[in-house]
Amino acid sequence: MKVICTEKSQILATRLARALKTTVVDVKYSRFPDGELYLLAGELDEETIIVSSVVDNDALVQLLLLIDACDSSDLRLVIPYMGYARQDKQFRKGELLSARAVARAISRGVSECITVNIHEPDVLKFFEAPARNISIARDIGAYIKTLNLKNPLILAPDDGALAFAGQVASEGGWEYDHLEKTRLSGEQVTMAPKVISVASRPVVIVDDIISTGGTIATATGMLYTQGATDVYAACVHGVLTGGAYVRLMEAGVRDVICSDTIERGCSRISAANQIAHALQTRMNR
Ligand code: R5P
Repeated sequence: MKVICTEKSQILATRLARALKTTVVDVKYSRFPDGELYLLAGELDEETIIVSSVVDNDALVQLLLLIDACDSSDLRLVIPYMGYARQDKQFRKGELLSARAVARAISRGVSECITVNIHEPDVLKFFEAPARNISIARDIGAYIKTLNLKNPLILAPDDGALAFAGQVASEGGWEYDHLEKTRLSGEQVTMAPKVISVASRPVVIVDDIISTGGTIATATGMLYTQGATDVYAACVHGVLTGGAYVRLMEAGVRDVICSDTIERGCSRISAANQIAHALQTRMNR
């Protein structure tokens, strides 16, 4: 069994291969003069695990090329971050279901797919192969433990992320809550935890994805006004689009922490062990 990956999932793929005591197939990633992607892969195995976060369109095309190349082998797919998964419903007439289109395209001919903290688990039904989602919430909790914060409050940015915050908090036996928005006027909105006060304690805002960081940046200032001593932001997938990291730090966030499902300078948590465990569970069945 060998691991193979797209270009922007090299670090996680290597960690996963180590956890599985195997190797990563050497791939040269380049382009034709017209910009089309060109991949040259080393020797494949009968049994292959592709690791590919769909972080952009190039990653998606590289993934399709790898799937095609592994056609004849027992192929399992690990999609640590699945881009396009958030467009999973038709919110306006005529909108296309990107989540379904991508799930179908990448799962044909595959024997199993694994995702990590996918934004909406319902998306798994679009895959044309058995698909399951794993959570690294406890690993985020374990990292937060290393910060040695005194009595932290784990805070979800909205009630949709409350269960996730609960999983993170269970690692340290901490309290958790979610932010609630109150409209003060046409333009003015305030945010505070629904139940638990942040006065004189550190807060860690946790979410599956930080994209623009807009909600967390706005909430941070308000939490300090409410007496929080420190505000941290932690997520699984650090999409960090359009200057989000800078926006968060400028807003007073002490540190932004994410995992290696998207490889960033602030990727401090690895999903490799949980993914290895999930793959082994099937292997030993
Ligand atoms: C969406 O529902 C996700 O769980 C995140 O809360 C969202 O993607 C974060 O967006 P942003 O970082 O742009 O506020």
